[in-house]
Amino acid sequence: MGKVSIRDVASLAGVSIATVSQVLNGKGTRFSEKTKAKVLAARDEIGYVPNASARSLKQGARILVGVVVPSLRNPFFGDLVQHMQENISDNISLSIMTARQGQADQTVETLVNSGVHGIIMASQLAKPVAVASSLKKRGIALVVLENHDELLDADAVYASDKKGGRLVAEHLLALGHKHVVLLGNQVYTDNLQYRTASFKETMLAAGAKVSEVATRNLTKHAGRAAAMAVSITQATAAFALNDELAIGLISGLNAHGIRVPEDMSVIGYDDTDYAEFFRPALTTVEQPLWLIAETALQTVIERINHPDAERQVAAFDTKLIVRESTASIS
Ligand code: RIB
Repeated sequence: MGKVSIRDVASLAGVSIATVSQVLNGKGTRFSEKTKAKVLAARDEIGYVPNASARSLKQGARILVGVVVPSLRNPFFGDLVQHMQENISDNISLSIMTARQGQADQTVETLVNSGVHGIIMASQLAKPVAVASSLKKRGIALVVLENHDELLDADAVYASDKKGGRLVAEHLLALGHKHVVLLGNQVYTDNLQYRTASFKETMLAAGAKVSEVATRNLTKHAGRAAAMAVSITQATAAFALNDELAIGLISGLNAHGIRVPEDMSVIGYDDTDYAEFFRPALTTVEQPLWLIAETALQTVIERINHPDAERQVAAFDTKLIVRESTASIS
């Protein structure tokens, strides 16, 4: 099919152009689910994207890549985006957006409407399979930074959370901890599911006890607020699902007179910039952030230039970094 327009979508779906426009711009709440589904199916069937001519890649043209992260307050994502920005060539522009749980699918459409050629997605998509297949049909590249194993229509770049979770457990077991707390989000994204599953599996296989304390999110504030709940478990160590939570937890434990690591060991995840400089310096798991950032950029550009190439998956290693916040059980 040649160049397709919004008119073609409307005629295939059997609705007006205004209806298509509103549904595709996320303003279609007044329409029935059936009408919305008809519009989306027609859009995907004919591969409609707004401003297709502005988006077509001529030799030397500027490439626009959308990057979606859950939050820039988490230094893991701040550094990821910073590193991408510092490593792009002159003909690429990044459009950076944040999307919390439940917002990522709509953010994809916002980026598509703004003319991106490809998207690097570090937030959790609510309907990953549907979004990936729709973007593919519309010729927009997608690289996910989480472990969407089933997401065959998208390239993937990630560091092994499965190994990371196991490394944490093995470290705590080697220090003699037999009762530990897992401190984490109420809602687990794909990567966190792998992280927690391998952690629990390794601890339980060694006959250790794992208590769980759920937090509202993965921030320092949530970590600090959970300190009391963590301390009453009487566990001797805590695995916080990222460094932000770990730093908050240590500050909360200190406020309750609990010393780290003397009274309780705490381990984080990510090896963010703060981990080394915080006191006690954090034991944590390093994800090769710079490699992830560079590979994600290369992969999305490759996909933009070669839409029909084989699916690319880059899986990197994770590494335990032992510092001061964990110690042998006394
Ligand atoms: O989104 C939460 C976490 O997932 C981050 O802190 C980082 O660990 C990422 O992999």
